[in-house]
Amino acid sequence: MEKIDLKTYWDKVYIKKDVEELGWYEENPEQSLQLIEKCLLENNAHILNVGTGASTLIDRLLGLGYNNVTATDISSTSMEKLKSRLGDEQSKKVQWIVDNLAQPVELLNIDNVDLWHDRAVLHFLTSESDQNTYFNLLKNTVKPKGYVIIASFNMDGAISCSGLPVFRHDVGSLSSKLGDEFTLLNNFDYTYTMPSGDTRAYVYALYRRK
Ligand SMILES: C[S@@+](CC[C@H](N)C(=O)[O-])C[C@H]1O[C@@H](n2cnc3c(N)ncnc32)[C@H](O)[C@@H]1O
Repeated sequence: MEKIDLKTYWDKVYIKKDVEELGWYEENPEQSLQLIEKCLLENNAHILNVGTGASTLIDRLLGLGYNNVTATDISSTSMEKLKSRLGDEQSKKVQWIVDNLAQPVELLNIDNVDLWHDRAVLHFLTSESDQNTYFNLLKNTVKPKGYVIIASFNMDGAISCSGLPVFRHDVGSLSSKLGDEFTLLNNFDYTYTMPSGDTRAYVYALYRRK
């Protein structure tokens, strides 16, 4: 595949469609919330949501009273859409970072994170080197006793998304990338129904750092 400018690519994805039409839109991010509930986090826990896009998870976290949320994505357009949905007052409660998880710059300054949450971004990192960068970042960022939630296309999932190839995962591949320092607390497969009616098979996994 020809080298593409990923930021421009994803900005265009978000310019072309309304958020509710996107193939990963969730009105209610129920599976993520179910796992977040298990973490029993304080309201001021630092939650880092990677590959946020325009996800309704941010609205829901603020609604639940979490006041230390960082949203990051390669696409500034996606997060502008999210900010405009939230409105000024709510947006100001969130820390916003535009960065590439495969070539992080600003994200390297983040540490002491209580929860790393990723729905549907890891699977876009298809090379071993990009995946290693992602997991090294995660390990530099999440504090001891902190939590990690990853939701990725599973082995029955699609081989591409939004015109890009994906690398599918299962609990075994996630656990092996995280290593012995992270204990698997919960995992399940989930079939997501897209706005088009098509389905996508996901694996959800919750880990805790020792
Ligand atoms: C399928 S969407 C999922 C968005 C959101 N997590 C959700 O559940 O609605 C994938 C998101 O990952 C972002 N993304 C893709 N590659 C990325 C990268 N290398 N670094 C950071 N974000 C990336 C895209 O801009 C997009 O918002």
